[in-house]
Amino acid sequence: MPDRVTYQFEYDERVRCAFIGAGEHSYRNVYPAFQYAPVELAAVCDVRRERAAAYARMFGGPSGRAAPYTDHREMLAKEKPAAVFIVTSYDQRTGRVQATDLALDCLRAGAHVWMEKPVAASVAEVLRLRRVSAETGRFVMAGLKKIFTPAVEKVASIMASEAFGPVSSISVRYPQALPPMERRHDLKAMRWFLDHVYHPAAVLTHLMGPVERLSYEWEPGGGSSVSTLRFASGAIGSLHLVAGVAATSPLERLEVVGRGANVIVDNGVRLTYYRPGARRDYGRDASFVVDDAVAPLVWEPEFSLGQLSNKNLFYLGYAPEVRHFCDSVLSGRPPVKGTLDDALEIMRLFEAYRETPPGSTATIARESE
Ligand SMILES: NC(=O)c1ccc[n+]([C@@H]2O[C@H](COP(=O)([O-])OP(=O)(O)OC[C@H]3O[C@@H](n4cnc5c(N)ncnc54)[C@H](O)[C@@H]3O)[C@@H](O)[C@H]2O)c1
Repeated sequence: MPDRVTYQFEYDERVRCAFIGAGEHSYRNVYPAFQYAPVELAAVCDVRRERAAAYARMFGGPSGRAAPYTDHREMLAKEKPAAVFIVTSYDQRTGRVQATDLALDCLRAGAHVWMEKPVAASVAEVLRLRRVSAETGRFVMAGLKKIFTPAVEKVASIMASEAFGPVSSISVRYPQALPPMERRHDLKAMRWFLDHVYHPAAVLTHLMGPVERLSYEWEPGGGSSVSTLRFASGAIGSLHLVAGVAATSPLERLEVVGRGANVIVDNGVRLTYYRPGARRDYGRDASFVVDDAVAPLVWEPEFSLGQLSNKNLFYLGYAPEVRHFCDSVLSGRPPVKGTLDDALEIMRLFEAYRETPPGSTATIARESE
């Protein structure tokens, strides 16, 4: 994300887009992000006609109204969008992700696709999306907002710095219950796990690379789990999926440890970098205050001014991810973050949890594709 944000109407060139889904989340977080991206919204489709019409009126963009549709195939044929945003939900009967088949239709109609997570409910489905994406020459970007947050981007750049040293371990905490083993074959029972595991798993795999081995313990009362992970890099990590926290509690905590240095993100916006180099004399230091050059660095947004950096569209990653997608379409270069390969790593973890009983170890297979 460039430091300076361009408003939608200021762009000389915008992507002709269509949108499938006029639901709750997209109203709050995806359509509004278009204010800060080169989007020209030409059409909105929802099976609920009145919603499609309302969103088309409200989010039609600089050149006026978008056209409402209730049938995405008709919309694709008539509007021929360069790109389609898809934010739909789950099939009530099967628990499948509705967006997977919609994305295949969009690719075959010649459009690039941005789709909310989860992109699919299995590794096989993501591989299918990847195959059709390659066949059609159109790319798919997954809505992995966490890896576009300024805090996680900063963690990634700290991790890449020489001073931080090789990464040794990571820990991520996120609230989500895991259903009992005997219910995990049922996608409907796994709906919220699938829906939410994308967030911590995106952070883990983005920062650390692929997971090679996973084991976990599971608490039957509420469904909490604590997993130990070994990454292909040799680093290790933990994923604490908590069930039972208060509704008022911040959800997340992330910590990455290097060599004599560590970085922590609390609540998505409070970033503390404990830098290397401070010398302590145990039992003899009269003060905890260290030299400025090695002191911890802390970043957090101010919440007084009405600006973009303290707006959730930005610090939660929505505007940056939409911008990355649009830049990719305009430049013809596939996205480098939120790719189907990223989604594949997350789905591998999802399947490992579906198939591995508590207390045993899963080796994550990477079939030759
Ligand atoms: N990244 C995030 O922060 C975040 C937050 C919340 C939800 N989400 C994701 O957003 C998605 C939607 O969640 P929601 O709560 O907004 O759901 P929702 O049910 O409010 O919205 C889905 C909409 O899609 C429409 N739809 C379904 N199938 C359709 C089809 N074939 N053609 C046209 N329209 C169709 C529905 O009528 C509905 O209006 C989910 O995938 C969820 O995981 C992401």
